[in-house]
Amino acid sequence: MKILVKLGELFDASRLIPIELAHVSGVSYKTLGEAPTDFLESLASTGEKVNVEATLNPQSFDKHLKERLPENLVKAQLKLCEIFDKLGFKPSFTCTPYYIKTPRKGAHLAWAESSAVVYANSVLGAWTNREGGPSALAAAIIGKTPNCGIHKAANRKPKILIEVEAPLKSEADYGALGIFLGKILEDKIPLIKGLKNPLAEDLKQLGAALASAGMVNMFHYKNNAVEARELEKITVEPKNIKETIAELTTASTSKPDLIFIGCPHCSIREIHRIANMIGTRKVKDNVEFWICTSRFVKKKAKAFVQKIEASGAKVLTDTCTVVTWTDRLGIKKIMTNSAKTAHYAPTLNKAETILAPLKECLKTALKG
Ligand code: F3S
Repeated sequence: MKILVKLGELFDASRLIPIELAHVSGVSYKTLGEAPTDFLESLASTGEKVNVEATLNPQSFDKHLKERLPENLVKAQLKLCEIFDKLGFKPSFTCTPYYIKTPRKGAHLAWAESSAVVYANSVLGAWTNREGGPSALAAAIIGKTPNCGIHKAANRKPKILIEVEAPLKSEADYGALGIFLGKILEDKIPLIKGLKNPLAEDLKQLGAALASAGMVNMFHYKNNAVEARELEKITVEPKNIKETIAELTTASTSKPDLIFIGCPHCSIREIHRIANMIGTRKVKDNVEFWICTSRFVKKKAKAFVQKIEASGAKVLTDTCTVVTWTDRLGIKKIMTNSAKTAHYAPTLNKAETILAPLKECLKTALKG
């Protein structure tokens, strides 16, 4: 309660408001470390539990990776998972909790995964600030959050107009747009014009990248001529996307150790699409091919998952490339269709990156 009240005071909230869902990040031991584990352990020992439906971000391994990681790290992660279990969290371990339960339009949430925050505000029409791990945890236990930031309608209005003149041909282009804008927008909410019938998954890539390169927590993309007339304008040209993709490709050769799809975690539709695109082809020797999703989606898309795994690719749940110790697995070069991963991997995975559309990732991963 002290955490929530303090935050409310800092951001001029007049009261706490009830939330319908909470989502906590900082679940991977790789990103969390020992001190927060002690804090969580002492909290769980008081018998406190969450008071709303509360989900968790990915942790640092799944069954495919567990055996390949040092025992001390696996133990530390399992201890963290047990603590979250005691606190009453669902073992969802995904950054796309909206595929498990889609929040209703206008619902107030306390979510801490930045990609999910942007998606919830911009695509689903739910209302959430970008919580930190501790504030989302506090909100999950109290069931409330301070009424500030974009929980208030007045703070959700667009502040800048973005005219996209660049053709966006793939999810990698949408992600590159997100990184480009994230770096120049600071925390200004954009009204993005010029997106041509984007899929929800394209918007997911755009939002995830926007939030990783900057502080924006929502965007508007449906035309609103009245608001657009009064706004400062920035134009995105083809060269901006091309240059951003080049910046996110740090590898000098096109031979990756790992090809990674599923940042943010794949939807059922993406799993279907990948399975159909793979067909009967097999993964090349000396290459790892991971597709990350949630347990929930993996179960729902069982037949397609089997088809994907028959190729030699691994459908991982509970984790992702960024939050596991890829360096300990000997992975030095990562190819991905996710601009967010390409943005983080050089620092968080100490790896070189290649950003490319799904089609090209599959071409590199598969024989024939
Ligand atoms: Fe999710 Fe990992 Fe990307 S947590 S958003 S797949 S970095």
